[in-house]
Amino acid sequence: MTRNSMLRLALGALPLLAGMEGAYAGSNGLAITPQMGWNTWNHFGCDISEDTIVSAAQAFVNYNLTQYGYEYILMDDCWQAPARDNATGAPVADPDKFPNGVKDLSDKIHAMGLKFGIYSSAGTYTCGGKFGSLDYEEIDAQTYADWGVDYLKYDNCYNQGRAGTPLISYERYNNMSMALNATGRPILYSMCNWGEDGPWNFAVTIANSWRISGDIFDVYDGYDDRCPCTSMLDCKLAGFHCSMTRIIDFAAPLGQKAGPGKWNDLDMLEVGNGGMSYDEYVTHFSMWSILKSPLILGNDVTDMTNDTLEIITNDAIIALNQDSSGSPAVRIWKKATNDTGSGTGDLSLWVGSLANSEYVIALMNTSPSSQEVSLSFKEIFGDQGSSAQTASWTLYDLWQKDSTGAWGLNTGTMQGSIPNVNIGAHQTKVWKAVQASGSTTKRRGSVVEL
Ligand code: GLA
Repeated sequence: MTRNSMLRLALGALPLLAGMEGAYAGSNGLAITPQMGWNTWNHFGCDISEDTIVSAAQAFVNYNLTQYGYEYILMDDCWQAPARDNATGAPVADPDKFPNGVKDLSDKIHAMGLKFGIYSSAGTYTCGGKFGSLDYEEIDAQTYADWGVDYLKYDNCYNQGRAGTPLISYERYNNMSMALNATGRPILYSMCNWGEDGPWNFAVTIANSWRISGDIFDVYDGYDDRCPCTSMLDCKLAGFHCSMTRIIDFAAPLGQKAGPGKWNDLDMLEVGNGGMSYDEYVTHFSMWSILKSPLILGNDVTDMTNDTLEIITNDAIIALNQDSSGSPAVRIWKKATNDTGSGTGDLSLWVGSLANSEYVIALMNTSPSSQEVSLSFKEIFGDQGSSAQTASWTLYDLWQKDSTGAWGLNTGTMQGSIPNVNIGAHQTKVWKAVQASGSTTKRRGSVVEL
């Protein structure tokens, strides 16, 4: 075959290929910044109904949560009737929980200015034992589209062993991706295969986000045999009961291929569910934000304390998550602390680049005692070149308010280091760094480096 005929063949195939795309940012244009919303599962489990979901949507309106970027109301597992429609095979909702049906529910959510999402599993059953979508992808996707669904969370239970290599997992998840896109309705595709077979490698062209680990549990730290892997890179049993800081450890090396439209999902938030302290939830919300995880609330939004509301509406932290550069923060180092007596932990330093040559710097202390540390700009900006390392930086502490009540207290302009940082047990400090003097720094790899 000549080069020209090969080219003709390739070009001729293009429209066909374009029509054969799945549901990912390249075709649905969604999740250009990480998706934000609320999901029923973490707080309500299987105990859901139309009222649970409409009430949450009403709370979104009452608290004006859309102003902060939260937009999706997501119905997780256990919405299904005991069986599909006998005649057509189409999915059916539980008539007791959803007496008016799913279309009516999604209409109500849309009328409140919000978007609506649903859940299923790439298996014969869902994790809650309801019917799954494996080999029913087309009829399910079309039914969701007909119901006005804007988002699908697609789980991994009862997958019939159709996993174990990236290709086998890819094909199983791609079937739903293609089916969603074929409906013509933009439906955000949120894969939930718990990191199995490395979705950060294979899912970037078929999904908008993918879970990286077993299920989160509302606890700060600790190992649990039900979440047995120490790293997700070759994990054979993702499990559940994963503590919050273990998921941060899992996520640390996985940011390389994430970016606009293709996000690592660290699982839904537990902020407000009661298992962690204020400082621990601040850590949770901060780290999910800078690692560019979707921010999906998992608490009862109809019944929030002031602390919970304050954390989930910190717009300076949310702005890091939604920053247009879409670059997950990187862990620069992690060091064991010298604690005596009451347990051990680590200090870790994280840096992420933001739009406009700004940076986020975070210091996380998982130890049970307070720590003092100085952070040099040499280590912080190790990848950014000497001009960044020697420049003066103005630091805004994003968990302190300024005199106008806005998040982001100017803590001064510094050169050389951030000296003598005192950080309490289980606290995380998050600063935005804005260059105050010197030449404008360009990231390494850009064309001009001043
Ligand atoms: C799995 C998922 C959870 C939740 C449940 C529902 O465990 O990982 O997030 O959706 O199923 O059964």
